[in-house]
This record gives sequence, C-alpha cells and structure tokens, in this order.
Amino acid sequence: MIDFPADLLSLLKKTSRAAVLTGAGVSQESGLRTFRDSQPATALRQAQDGNSAQAGLWSQYKPEDLATPEAFARDPKLVWDWYSFRREAVKAVRPNAGHYALAEMEKRIPNFTLITQNVDGLHRMAGSLNVLELHGNITRVRCSKCGMLAEIWGDDLESVPRCEKCNGYLRPDVVWFGESLPPVELQKAVNATRECQVFFSIGTSGVVQPAASLAHAARSNGAVLIEINADPTPLTAHVDFAIQGKSGEILPDLVKAVWE
Ligand code: APR
Repeated sequence: MIDFPADLLSLLKKTSRAAVLTGAGVSQESGLRTFRDSQPATALRQAQDGNSAQAGLWSQYKPEDLATPEAFARDPKLVWDWYSFRREAVKAVRPNAGHYALAEMEKRIPNFTLITQNVDGLHRMAGSLNVLELHGNITRVRCSKCGMLAEIWGDDLESVPRCEKCNGYLRPDVVWFGESLPPVELQKAVNATRECQVFFSIGTSGVVQPAASLAHAARSNGAVLIEINADPTPLTAHVDFAIQGKSGEILPDLVKAVWE
C-alpha cells in the first residue's frame, strides 16, 4: 500500500468537485501502447501481442504521420488499415485497475468529470459515467464527407468502405492532428476545469493542446493539482502533488486510502 501524504487524503475526503484528465498511460496496463513510446519498445510490445506480422508492418510508421487529414487525403487505404489494426487491438483489451478506481472515485465525489484523450472507450467500459472523450472514439466510424455515423462496414475490402448516404470515404470518429476538438465536449471540459477544487492529470505527457492547458487553467482558478504518471512531465514542476508510478497501482490504493 502506497503511503500518501495525509493532507492529500484529507483534501480528497472533503472534495465535492473534481476533474480528471487522462491520457494513454492509463491504458498502458491494459496492454495498449502509449503515443510517445520509443520506436523499438513499441515494436517489441506489438510483436508480443500475437499479431506480429501486422505489428511489424505498422511499427515503421509514427502516429503523427498517419493520424492527420493530409495522410488520409494522400492515402486513405493506408490510414484506414492502420485504424482497423488499432481497432482490433482495442477490442482485445479490457479496463485495468486504474480505470475501475476512477469509476469508483466518481461514486464518492458528487461532481466528477472525467476528461480523456484516449479513444479506446475503456473508461466507460469500466463503469465511468460522466466521460468527455476529447479525441473521439476509435470504435466509431463516420463519413469523412457528410459526417454520418456508420453502423456496419467491411474491413477486408480492397479499398476504403464508403458512406451509404453520400458515397464519401468512411473514417474513424477520432480527432486527428490539426483538427478541432468536438466543441460540446471541449466546452464541458473547460467548465469542469473552471469549477473543480481538485484537478488530476493522469498518464498523459501533457504535450498536446488544448488538453494540456486544462491543468494550468484549473490552477489559475484555484484548484489543487495532482499528477499521477510513470515519469516526470512538463507539468510535474507545477503541481501540488506529484505521484510517480503506474496509475493501475496508485489509483486503487488512493481510493482505498481515502474512502475505505
Ligand atoms: N501509469 C501512469 N502513467 C504512465 C503509464 C502508467 N502505467 N505508462 C505510461 N505512462 C505515462 C508516460 O510516462 C507518459 O507521460 O503516460 C504518458 C503517455 O503520454 P503520451 O504517449 O504522450 O500519451 P498522451 O498524453 O495521451 O498523448 C496525448 O497525443 O498523439 C496524441 O491524440 C494523441 O491522445 C493523444 C495525445
């Protein structure tokens, strides 16, 4: 059991408004790779996931080169196939103890907003209810032209599947580099950030905007900042409590220490 500072525990016990920002690190212990993993480690982890031929193929690409509107315009099939591969990886994994602890925390804190940059849907699968998916959800597919969500599509086609309504190419319902975040989710995230007493930044490198600036906005509004991360980040020097380690280990212990 981790030894948390007593003032952190008493603060959380009386907190009634919390906002949590999560990133890829929260899903790392479910077996999903993070974005800024080094290339060799990424290739190794993918090779271990039982789909090594596919993993080998994709390890030569950087997400920043495929997750863009330009990449899709240039080679829609390449981008579609990469997302099909990632969608299958997401389908094969389950939430970890960190996801479940956050769902538990939501039951204990009356106003609790979970803002995630993750597209894997694992927070909802773990039982979290008030979830804002700032970068969309990889399990959903929509038309790149008219925006209509697609219910069914084939993944083994020679070319990218097309929209039933307007014949546009289908694409994953995620936010690519250079695209705007969903305005309703973003506004709700900003509101929760403004109103919270405590702001958690968990498993995110905090380098992608505007999600990264939420922590600073929370701080200017008087919130206490808590970071949980396996490694130091650019935010670490600015938080009130930095807890270094794996979120799947720290969060369950924290919930136990505060509420049980
Ligand atoms: N527990 C806690 N933190 C972890 C763990 C773990 N088990 N494993 C890794 N981390 C930390 C890493 O130290 C790193 O700081 O999680 C962070 C993951 O950072 P990124 O890979 O940069 O992921 P994220 O912050 O979610 O990236 C933000 O960038 O590429 C875009 O759209 C993509 O949503 C993504 C966004």
